[in-house]
Amino acid sequence: MDPILEGAVEVRSHLGPDDERTLADDVLDGLTRPLKELPPKHLYDARGSELFEAICELPEYYQTRTERSILQAHADDIAARTGAVELVELGSGSATKTRVLLDAMAAAGTLARYVPVDVSASTVHAVAELFADEYDGMSVYGLVADFERHLERLPEPIGPRLVPFLGGTIGNFPPGSRRRFLRSLGKVLGPDGHLLLGTDLVKDPHVIEAAYNDSTGVTAQFNLNVLHVVNRELGANFDVDAFEHVAFFDREREWIEMRLRATEPQRVRVEALDLEVDFAAREEMRTEISAKFTADRLRGDLAAAGMELVELFTDPDELFAVSLARVA
Ligand code: SAH
Ligand code: TRP
Repeated sequence: MDPILEGAVEVRSHLGPDDERTLADDVLDGLTRPLKELPPKHLYDARGSELFEAICELPEYYQTRTERSILQAHADDIAARTGAVELVELGSGSATKTRVLLDAMAAAGTLARYVPVDVSASTVHAVAELFADEYDGMSVYGLVADFERHLERLPEPIGPRLVPFLGGTIGNFPPGSRRRFLRSLGKVLGPDGHLLLGTDLVKDPHVIEAAYNDSTGVTAQFNLNVLHVVNRELGANFDVDAFEHVAFFDREREWIEMRLRATEPQRVRVEALDLEVDFAAREEMRTEISAKFTADRLRGDLAAAGMELVELFTDPDELFAVSLARVA
């Protein structure tokens, strides 16, 4: 077990040259497919993370404020039932809602450590410093890492652990990898740990679509930012102005699909890959899916991953759900 210093803050980065390789592999794979695609984790560089925070404040993006209200209503109960002494948060981002959980654990007198895990180095550093200052006696161990590849780098538990995975990020996995990923979380939880999973719920498609097509265009900027990332990191020459943001609800699969559409035919060169890719006029490239859930789907996914639902918390309008789960 790592020695835990009260109030200590430490940040480790597990991203390095290897991860530029990951971006290169993903881009090579994705851009040479018959239906082009870029994986969503590359949306979150420093600017992407800032744009996502702006999305969370949009009136159309009901998810953040609804999830926060659910946490506010049930955080004390969650703290008491899990007896958690540490929070290991996956895809923590700026962790604004996490305060609600940390406050409840602090009030219960159990709070000892916070472990934010995110690919965005700037947010992990900022959150680690801020929270170590704010919560007396709590240590922070930040991890700049890819939760799809680096879960084994997590520190050993120091007691019952609560693992928040909020913001509907689990919905960004396609269904098969979603279950595989949930299964891999079993090891992180251990026998006395709990998962706290935030998921958006199936509802009127117009409400969902508005959340990904806001009137101010921040969501479009966020989506288009991935082209800036590829230009910068891999020496590509995407003409960002020649692409537009597309988001629609796939009613059959019950997920939002985000795409970038070429407004005119174009050839893009990716220097680092010595690759040239042609886009036809109106050709679309997928950048993210965001699955919407029902209680049945949640139970099914958790069961398939060797977990059981302990309690499903929702808001009065059933817009969003926060599930407490553990290894079955
Ligand atoms: N939890 C916050 C942020 C959600 S946005 C909230 O609820 O508002 C998704 C977050 O997951 C971003 O901060 C992004 O950087 C991070 N993320 C996405 N893919 C990741 C990956 N593969 N590994 C680690 N973090 C990832
Ligand atoms: N995890 C967020 C979600 O599924 C990510 C997100 C919100 C997003 N808006 C977006 C991703 C727009 C790409 C484009 O809701």
